[in-house]
Amino acid sequence: MKRSFIREILESIDNETISFAGGLPDENLFPIQDLQKAASKVFENPKNLQYAISNGIVPLREKIANFYNKERFFTKPENILVTTGSQQGLFIIAKYFQNKQIIIEEPSYLGAVNIFKMNNLGMQPIYLDHGGIDTQKFDEVYQKIKLAYLIPDFQNPKGSLYSDSKRKDIANSVLKYGGYIIEDAPYSELYFDQKSQSISSYIPDNSFHLGSFSKTLSPSLRIGWIRANEEIIKQLTMIKETIDLHSSGISQYILDIYLDDNSLFENHLDQLRKAYKEKMEMFTSALKQELQEFDFVMPKGGMFVFGSLKGFDTMELVRKCMKEKVVFVPGNQFFLDGRISDEIRFNYTYSTKEQVSKGLRTIADISRTLK
Ligand SMILES: Cc1ncc(COP(=O)(O)O)c(C=O)c1O
Repeated sequence: MKRSFIREILESIDNETISFAGGLPDENLFPIQDLQKAASKVFENPKNLQYAISNGIVPLREKIANFYNKERFFTKPENILVTTGSQQGLFIIAKYFQNKQIIIEEPSYLGAVNIFKMNNLGMQPIYLDHGGIDTQKFDEVYQKIKLAYLIPDFQNPKGSLYSDSKRKDIANSVLKYGGYIIEDAPYSELYFDQKSQSISSYIPDNSFHLGSFSKTLSPSLRIGWIRANEEIIKQLTMIKETIDLHSSGISQYILDIYLDDNSLFENHLDQLRKAYKEKMEMFTSALKQELQEFDFVMPKGGMFVFGSLKGFDTMELVRKCMKEKVVFVPGNQFFLDGRISDEIRFNYTYSTKEQVSKGLRTIADISRTLK
């Protein structure tokens, strides 16, 4: 089972390990004081520790709806379902569509692939390039399947960013044939230059747009959301109720209070984008210096740099590196058929400069022993 190998990697991590494996935010950039202030206010009111409503507390749904309204993507609180991370959002949507066929990108996010398998969704992969999938191919396959799972902003694992014209093409196919797309967007705020318009905004009633506070604030809050048609949200809420009644009220109130002063979040996002851009530049220049054979495309946002190390089986390479306490995710983990791959996904947001140089040098040294 593929997940167990990534687990194996993540479980092997101790204090001495240099990890480029997980999709972890930089802990030094968590807005701890502001979250702490919000949390202490939450505990002033015992009602905040009571059971909450299943679809999410109203003021938080209003604030999430306003994220969309600000971008002129008309959204009401009734279009929002608060979920326990976007991971749960994906599970709920997969349950709603269980036993159907679904288009996925190849490579794709393993956490979603496993959910689709568990809900018996037949997956039809379409090759993903750095600028998105081939939209003509998409049109052909979508005509029959009418459901797709896409990560258009700084995709996990490949870091791809869909061009605006591809986004419009995909929306046009959906309008032409009916059906839905699931647009997973946990990295959409982590752009370096400018935010792209979501595909969902062109097709508000035929899309599930997933958001999350995991990559922007803290994954430990476990709060994400689904934006969809109001009637569908009602059905998804029924599925959610069977899973956990509601997402953590404490986390929702913390977020609601934190977001009361909207400039706090906006300033934090600005800082994050700047810091991650610097980290990406630091990581990619270290790659050019330490691991010159690694062929990659410079990311335009997000958390990952993806590329290939020609002539290597990166699964074999990571096994050797694990023994020297450096880890990354080999490309074969992201393909349905588990093929031999020379690709690697590196996370660049988590490690320090010293760890990056040391870690990449270790990988380069080990790769030379495999030649
Ligand atoms: C593409 C994608 N979707 C969803 C998730 C799940 O995020 P969370 O449940 O923390 O919101 C992740 C996490 O890495 C991801 O990369």
